[in-house]
Amino acid sequence: PVYRLIALDSVGSTMDEARRLAEAGAEDGTLVWAREQTKGRGRLGRSWASPRGNLYLSLLLRPDCPPAQAAQLGFVAALALGEAIGSVSPPVDVTYKWPNDVLLHGRKVAGLLLESRSTPEGGLDWLILGMGVNVATFPKEANYPATSLRFEGVPRDVDEVDLLEAFGRYFMSWASRWLEDGFAPVRAAWLRHAERLGQEIEVRLPNQSLAGTFRDLDAEGHLLLGQADGTTRRIAAGEIFPVG
Ligand code: BTN
Repeated sequence: PVYRLIALDSVGSTMDEARRLAEAGAEDGTLVWAREQTKGRGRLGRSWASPRGNLYLSLLLRPDCPPAQAAQLGFVAALALGEAIGSVSPPVDVTYKWPNDVLLHGRKVAGLLLESRSTPEGGLDWLILGMGVNVATFPKEANYPATSLRFEGVPRDVDEVDLLEAFGRYFMSWASRWLEDGFAPVRAAWLRHAERLGQEIEVRLPNQSLAGTFRDLDAEGHLLLGQADGTTRRIAAGEIFPVG
């Protein structure tokens, strides 16, 4: 893939720009980047604080894969970002929190938002990967403890543009790996640094909360939760929290 970069100063949400472009027929690899957002959004209907100094992008992809496999690209992107952060910074402890968050020393530094549309025939029309990275600042009030690259000691001269470039390179390389070899290598690399793998977690779903052991990630990127009664529950969407 190649990128076509659309650089904006201020925008409501890069997701909406990317969606508009997608509907107008924009090609695979169209990358919308903004310096700030006035209506940034996060997962589960939350807002995403988007002041200047952090990284906000939405990448339009048109992968030739069934819609059920689109979620795999969220793991590809998280992994690429984790490695990009490692490449521009002194050694930091990067972990991946299910489904697609990136943590530094256990605190959230980046989040991903996936939006997609299927074709009437049931194929995937487009997928938009939205990514927000706390480079300079992070919200004090968040549903999960947050941090920024700056706060974790990444030098001031590393800015959001450096990170955008590094992410672009790592995503390119992980995406080709995914195209050639499928999800297995991505899943393996992600699991090597998965937050809370093998430990007790709480999974919050819209209407309930489940407790269990984080056992594994399946081929579609669903979380496998081992429950007290010995059964395993497969979870497609939700949010995990540590227990104890
Ligand atoms: C999360 O809830 O963790 C996902 C946050 C995703 C934020 C990014 S910032 C760029 C893109 N535009 C948005 O409005 N949201 C995503």
